[in-house]
Amino acid sequence: MSSHACDVLVVGGGIIGLTAAWRALEAGASVVVLDPAPGDGATHAAAGMLAPVMEAGFGEEAQARLGTASLALWPDLADALERAAGLPPGAVGLETAGTLALAYDGDDLVALRRSLALHRELGLGSVEITPAEARRREPGVGPRVAGAAWVPGDHQVDPRAVHAALAVTTARATHVPRAAVSLTWAHGTVVGALDDAGTTYSAGTVVLAAGHASAALFAGAPTRPVPGTTLRLDAAADRSPAVVVRGTVQGRPVYAVPRRVRPDGRRELVVGATSDERDDDQLARAGDVFALLRDARALLPELDDAVLLEAVTRSRPGSPDNAPLLGRAADGLYLATGHYRNGILLTPLTAAAVDDALGVAPGGPGERAAVEAAARYANPRRFADAYSTTPTTERGGTA
Ligand code: GLY
Repeated sequence: MSSHACDVLVVGGGIIGLTAAWRALEAGASVVVLDPAPGDGATHAAAGMLAPVMEAGFGEEAQARLGTASLALWPDLADALERAAGLPPGAVGLETAGTLALAYDGDDLVALRRSLALHRELGLGSVEITPAEARRREPGVGPRVAGAAWVPGDHQVDPRAVHAALAVTTARATHVPRAAVSLTWAHGTVVGALDDAGTTYSAGTVVLAAGHASAALFAGAPTRPVPGTTLRLDAAADRSPAVVVRGTVQGRPVYAVPRRVRPDGRRELVVGATSDERDDDQLARAGDVFALLRDARALLPELDDAVLLEAVTRSRPGSPDNAPLLGRAADGLYLATGHYRNGILLTPLTAAAVDDALGVAPGGPGERAAVEAAARYANPRRFADAYSTTPTTERGGTA
């Protein structure tokens, strides 16, 4: 049985875990990242919508505030990440052209108007437009759309490109392709972890960023899998939308997220997403693929011509209130998990919160606001009364 020592052990190598690892490396820490398949969790399926407005549900003010604070940091984060990774500007695919929201039938329009009223209540920008105006913005909008809204503040980034950039910026960390099986504790403090090969890691701080699997390692991180399927299509630029289009079709939500046009005049389009409360099996159901395509083409009929490249099912990490868990949950343990539908949106806020925990001063008012929002709405100890935050048995021979 071997062992490693480091300043920061990051459990989970998705976008959130690698963001924490990058920030820790920048702060001068020695870092180990444990993940058997980095980037193959929620990151792999994510469409990359940066949508604090349209993702704001009733009773989800916390998510809206966190999302708005984080979105403001995305341009600087994209810039810093591209520079640190030696990539050209724009490489991570940040697009800030807004989002078109569509309602397929009359009931969908009633629901859309309720959402727009909620946006007004929360101070989020959105405006109802006519279907004709929607078609002026996106000529491919189908003939049977009952209503629409323009959402200037909802954007997108390419999660796979972000993850690839983070892999470069964290190359000097030690990446171990193993799964953590338990945290190790000593006298009420988390002191490391044990992996599935029997290797122990001792660390000054463990960052738990294992997505929905976090709960299995620490009961005080009550995450659950919320599987979602997304599709990747390859479409001609003039037969696909230029901005994010989302909507509901007879009550079912669907979105289409267009990437930048390639030199061959085509683009990738991510269509999503299902959302299920079931176990994580990473299997794309035929019925889900069918339903996503049926609903996407109801809003954007030209998608019939697109080529289906991928159907991917991965699990979002839900928490009991679907807001993230960000911060110290026990001595030696920092949680960065439970980001649910907004992991990509909340990446810069997570970076700012990790910087704050490492003693790095906020770079400006936006980062200060993000750190404050994280402290207010993402306190990882808010479930402490309901879920045990101390181990029943201390592991690693230190009890
Ligand atoms: N953020 C969109 C989704 O989780 O499907």
